[in-house]
Parts: sequence; C-alpha cells; structure tokens
Amino acid sequence: MNTEYTFPHRHILGMDQFSREDITHILETAESFREISERSIKKVPVLRGRTVVNLFFEPSTRTRTSFEVAAKRLSADTFNFSASTSSATKGETLIDTARNISAMRPDVIILRHAAAGASELLSRHVSAAVVNAGDGAHQHPSQGLLDLLTVRRHKGRLDGLKIAIIGDITHSRVARSDILGFTTMGSQVFVYGPATLIPMHIESLGAIRARSLHEALDQADVVMALRIQQERLHEALLPSLREYAQRFGIGDGPLGWAREDAIIMHPGPINRGVEISPEIADSERSVILDQVTNGVAVRMALLYLVGTV
Ligand code: CP
Repeated sequence: MNTEYTFPHRHILGMDQFSREDITHILETAESFREISERSIKKVPVLRGRTVVNLFFEPSTRTRTSFEVAAKRLSADTFNFSASTSSATKGETLIDTARNISAMRPDVIILRHAAAGASELLSRHVSAAVVNAGDGAHQHPSQGLLDLLTVRRHKGRLDGLKIAIIGDITHSRVARSDILGFTTMGSQVFVYGPATLIPMHIESLGAIRARSLHEALDQADVVMALRIQQERLHEALLPSLREYAQRFGIGDGPLGWAREDAIIMHPGPINRGVEISPEIADSERSVILDQVTNGVAVRMALLYLVGTV
C-alpha cells in the first residue's frame, strides 16, 4: 500500500469518482478487514462512537445486511430506516427525511433510492458522509468494488481480463459500476443482451457491445449474469422469460465458449432458470457467495475510509 496516499473522497457516489489508485487502496483496505470476519470475535473498535444510518427506500437483502454487519464489526452504532414503515409513506420527501435524520447527527448515511442521482442530491443537504447503495439504474459502487475484489482474489489481477456481462444492461446500476471499475483497472468488458436492454451509448462508458452471446463469452475470464429487473420493465422490452432463458441464459452450452477457468458471477437476487441455470449458479465455478462475503469486507473498508474523517 502507498503510505503517502490519503483517500480523497468525502462521499461514495459512483465508480467514476475513483482513480486506479483509489480503487487499489479501497481493495487493499478491504483485504486488511477481510480477516476480521474469520475470527471468533468479529469486532474491532475502529468506528466506536460513530453512528451509521441505513436509509433504504427500495428493498435489499445483501446490501443493507452487509452494510449493517460491516458497521457492527467496526463497533459503530447502526440504525435502519425502512421507507415502508416511515413517514415517507405519508408523503415526506427524501430531503426532508434526510434533514431530520441528519439532525440526529449520524456520521455516515447509506442510501438506496429508486431515483438516479439521489445520493449526490443527499450529499449536498447533510453533514454526514453519504454512501450510494444503489440509485435507480445509475450506480451501485459498493457492488462494483466487491465484484472487483472477488475477481482479484480469484484471478490474482484486474488488468488484461475479459469480463462478459450478460442481460439487462439498461436497468442495471451494477453493470454501470462494473464497467467503469473493470475498465479503470485495465480489463475489457463485453456486454450482451436483448437489443432493447442495451443502452444506445454503452460504449461511452468503455464497454464493448458484443454482436452475439458467442462473441461476448468467447475466451471470457469472468461471466456475469444480470437479473431481469421486472420491477423496472414498464414496456414490452422482452419476449417471454422462457425465450429469454433460451437465447440469453447462462447454461452449460454457452459456458463452453468461455475459458475453462472462467468464474461465474451474479450480483443477486437470482432468477434461477432465467438468466442462469440453477446448476451453474451452484457449480464449483460459481463465486456468487464469495461476492457476498467480499461485500462485507468492502463495506467495512468504505465505512472506515469515510467514517473516520
Ligand atoms: N446485489 C444487491 O444489490 O442485492 P440487494 O438488492 O439484495 O441489496
């Protein structure tokens, strides 16, 4: 680790804010925290006396739980805000909600919201550090970082790899954060899916638009399947789920095009039998649960980096 380096970011809003050096520092910090989760007593006093708020306006299993686990392992006080049981149901706006939470003097606010840009907006209205835990179809930087950590742990590097991301790219904040993260670190990202679910200008993020599933997967080091986000599909952008599974699903056949040592990733939640077959999701090549384990370490690193300033 570069001892001269100081992490320059107050908020974690998107992968585009990070240089290669920033990402390397976050991943090294996550590596140093990863061991804590293997201990019998999984707690260090790094954030003792600090308060972390989980402000979630959309459902979550992995992100919310792992931010809470991460905060608790660093000895922070945590509390969870759930939109469905809050005054948001009475019409209170995001900014009013955040100002009221901010008046309780938290040190870090973790925000998940359906609107792209919500975290950036919040960061201008509160004194706490803001961490984007997913804003609409925009970005999910902690997922991008945990995906980078997972690939680095399995492949030993992040440069010169071929990453194939298959599925609904248009609605995927994970795809955006991963494309930015992997290309910043020197890998190539190929995307493929139904033409209606690949954004027009995906190349501007640095991705390569594959013309077929074969081209996307050919000699890939990493194969990532994305969930069909039915909650964000307001038009008929897909044929049927059955046809999707046949044409775009990751099963044994298409996986034969990838490298023999390719790893299989998925950010979750999985639609088994749609974007990925259950056998592949549970196979030895699948690192899907490693992604979850690494998520705790990455979130510990992020809370440490923005919560101790
Ligand atoms: N990967 C991810 O963001 O999962 P959750 O929606 O369960 O947090």
